[in-house]
Amino acid sequence: MTTAIYPGSFDPVTYGHIDIAIRASKIFDKLIIGVLVNPDKKYLFNMDERIALIKEALKEYKNIEVVGFKGLLVNYMKENNIKVIVKGLRTFSDFEYEFNMADLNKRLYNEAETTFIMTSPQYSVVSSSMVKNLAKFSGDISDFAPKYVAEAISHKFNNKGM
Ligand code: PNS
Repeated sequence: MTTAIYPGSFDPVTYGHIDIAIRASKIFDKLIIGVLVNPDKKYLFNMDERIALIKEALKEYKNIEVVGFKGLLVNYMKENNIKVIVKGLRTFSDFEYEFNMADLNKRLYNEAETTFIMTSPQYSVVSSSMVKNLAKFSGDISDFAPKYVAEAISHKFNNKGM
């Protein structure tokens, strides 16, 4: 049985992430979505909120589990006997970053193998930042993220007085 982990910030989840997760869940026996803290990023949603939004999106998929953790991805993988990382690739610039991450993770944990799934063309420009920016200015994000994600973003910005 092969378990893979799809790590990311998911702040918030988009249709791009959902597409990658569903496709990965068909390749691997079990997919763990690892909601991580990236120290370089300032988040709109806290970890529990990010987890809840993803769980709602993928609740029908019984071989997908959503977990949150802090620290190194490879440490979580070692502790939970996971050897496969799933990453989504949108553009060439994603590749350069992901190439370095895959190399680093391999150096830290030699058994780790990073696999890449090409984002479906209709989501190649979709990112969490783009979705947040659009929603902040009341733009329509219905092609890019579920309705409840749009509502959660509006709720955040309204509470912040924006
Ligand atoms: O969605 P993101 O923010 O592009 O995801 C990046 C993420 C969270 C996958 C990446 O920062 C990560 O793997 N963080 C965990 C910490 C870690 O293992 N870092 C690698 C060494 S710096």
